[in-house]
Amino acid sequence: MTLVLGIESSCDETAAAVVRDGREVLSSSIHSQAAQHAVYGGVVPELAGRSHLRQILPVLDEALASASLELDQIDAIAVTSRPGLVGSLLVGLSTAKALAFARNLPLIGVHHIQAHVYAATMEQAGSDPSRDVSKALLPALALVVSGGHTSLYEVRDWTDLVELGTTLDDAAGEAFDKVAWLLGLEYPGGPSISKLAREGNPKAVSFPRYSPSKGQIGFSFSGLKTSVLYHLRGGDALAPTPAPEDIENRADVAASFQEAVVDALVKQSLRAARMRGLETLLVAGGVACNARLRERMTSAGEDMGLRVLFPSPAYCTDNAVMIAGLGYQLFRAGRLDDLQLDASPR
Ligand code: KG4
Ligand code: ZN
Repeated sequence: MTLVLGIESSCDETAAAVVRDGREVLSSSIHSQAAQHAVYGGVVPELAGRSHLRQILPVLDEALASASLELDQIDAIAVTSRPGLVGSLLVGLSTAKALAFARNLPLIGVHHIQAHVYAATMEQAGSDPSRDVSKALLPALALVVSGGHTSLYEVRDWTDLVELGTTLDDAAGEAFDKVAWLLGLEYPGGPSISKLAREGNPKAVSFPRYSPSKGQIGFSFSGLKTSVLYHLRGGDALAPTPAPEDIENRADVAASFQEAVVDALVKQSLRAARMRGLETLLVAGGVACNARLRERMTSAGEDMGLRVLFPSPAYCTDNAVMIAGLGYQLFRAGRLDDLQLDASPR
């Protein structure tokens, strides 16, 4: 039995978790900074770093306490070292290094995106958490769709991801956040739009869908975002943007926008699966919480014999469970880091 303590601080969540043998979650503690960034409509790096500094020790204590463990019962420390906001990453990384040094524990640097993908496999053992099914799912296709990323990868191994296509501009989550801002909805925009969209008609407004040329895989969401803006201005690009309370049929706009994003994500994922002959699709990242995406991707997958796996919503958004989970696989493979481990934005 191996207990890994995971630490995550790459963006606006300070998180710690204890995971047994790469899949059994003993605790997961998260402090979200969403409320602090809400007034700015997006993450302010300077505020994020300072908040991580205040929260990291209480979050760590909580993760250990709720697993009823002491630090000396932990076998290894896994920490997000890349990619992310460097000032934020450094808080988790310095804490992990200090603990590893003081307690003479193995230190494992984890790639945040690889961990998001790994999260989609962690709950697949069903009622038998001792079964490690993760490797059996590879090779797989992975769609990572969050506030900072929208990419498709061929996953050959947990740390061997080949990018098949990515976004030319905004990430899907970023588009949700920006359109929510236009509609006067609360930050983060994804959950707000998804909630309002339930009352709207996804066919009410026909927003454009970007499609790359034949044989290519890719995304683009900035044109869609601009179309929403022009739609709100009544088709006149130079007209003022109406105040949120003056927007008619906000729910229809939300539902139609969401449908356009989901269409693109589903279409490109199926295309990539077909092109690469992959039979499993792992969907990860904050936007993977989206109920409409989960429903449409699952049913489109069923139609073409593609097994589609999503993590539970709690493990789609940033968390430390995924860091401890992938950390365990690296630990088992002997892929340890030393105290020279550095943070990187890429
Ligand atoms: O993975 P994540 O927590 O952080 C990043 O690494 O970016 O993803 C956050 C993003 C935000 O843009 C948020 O609006 C989006 O995920 N999101 C959603 C939903 N829940 C969160 N987007 C669409 N529908 C949701 N239900
Ligand atoms: Zn993330």
